[in-house]
Amino acid sequence: MAETRREGPFLRIDIISVVPQTFESVLNASILKRAREAGLVEIVVHNLHDYGLGRYKQVDDTPYGGGAGMILRPEPIFSCIEKLRAEREYDEVIFLTPDGDILDQKAANRLSMARNLILLCGHYKGVDERVRTALVTRDISIGDYVLTGGELPALVLTDAIVRLLPGALGDSESALSDSFQAGLLDAPYYTKPAEFGGMPVPDILMTGDHAKIAEWRDTEALRRTRERRPGLLDDPERS
Ligand code: ADE
Repeated sequence: MAETRREGPFLRIDIISVVPQTFESVLNASILKRAREAGLVEIVVHNLHDYGLGRYKQVDDTPYGGGAGMILRPEPIFSCIEKLRAEREYDEVIFLTPDGDILDQKAANRLSMARNLILLCGHYKGVDERVRTALVTRDISIGDYVLTGGELPALVLTDAIVRLLPGALGDSESALSDSFQAGLLDAPYYTKPAEFGGMPVPDILMTGDHAKIAEWRDTEALRRTRERRPGLLDDPERS
C-alpha cells in the first residue's frame, strides 16, 4: 500500500513580540505543547529586539505630534516580516489590536485552514501606522477592553486555532461539539458522582440511550443559548 506522508506541520505560526518570554509557559503546556511535539503545528516566536536599531537595539520611539506613550518603529517590524516573507508565503499577517475585528469561532475555523500565519503583537501605545498600511492583512481583537500588549491576544488566537487542527484533540468529536461550533452554546455536562450535595445527574444521561441523549443535548444547547446569548440565534449563517 502506498504510504501517504504529510510534509511538515499543517500550520506554521510566526509570532513577533518585544516580550517573547510571555509565550514560553503557555506554548509548553497541555494541548499546545502536545500539538507542537506531534508536529501538527510549528510555532516560532521572534524577539523584535533582534531587529532593533543601533547599539541599543531600539524598537520604539515617541509619537510625532506629541502625546503619551511609545510607538513601535516601522524598521524593525519591516525587517523581521520581510525576512520571513522571503522564506515562505504567508496567508495572513495579523495584527492583534483592540480596534480589530472581534475574534469568534468562525474566524478561528477559517484561520485553522491556513498554512503560514504571522501574528504581530503591539506593545506600548501602538505601532507606526505604516506597518498596518503596508504589511498587515488583518486586524484582530479579542474583546472590547485594552490589554498591555498583543501577546495574550496572540496566545488566545493561537490556542483557538491549534485545537482545531486534525489530531490536536484526543477525541476528534470534541471540537465539533464545542460551544459556537454550530452557532450555539454547548449543553451542560456531568461526571461522577451520580449525586453530589443533593444534586442528581439528569436521569436521561444514565439511560445509555445515545439517540435520546443527543436529542436532550440539542434541546439543552438551544435552551442555554436562548437564555444566555439570544443574539446567536439571529445569525443567518448559523448551521
Ligand atoms: N492589544 C491590546 N488589547 C487588545 C485586545 N483587546 N485585543 C487584541 N489586541 C490587543
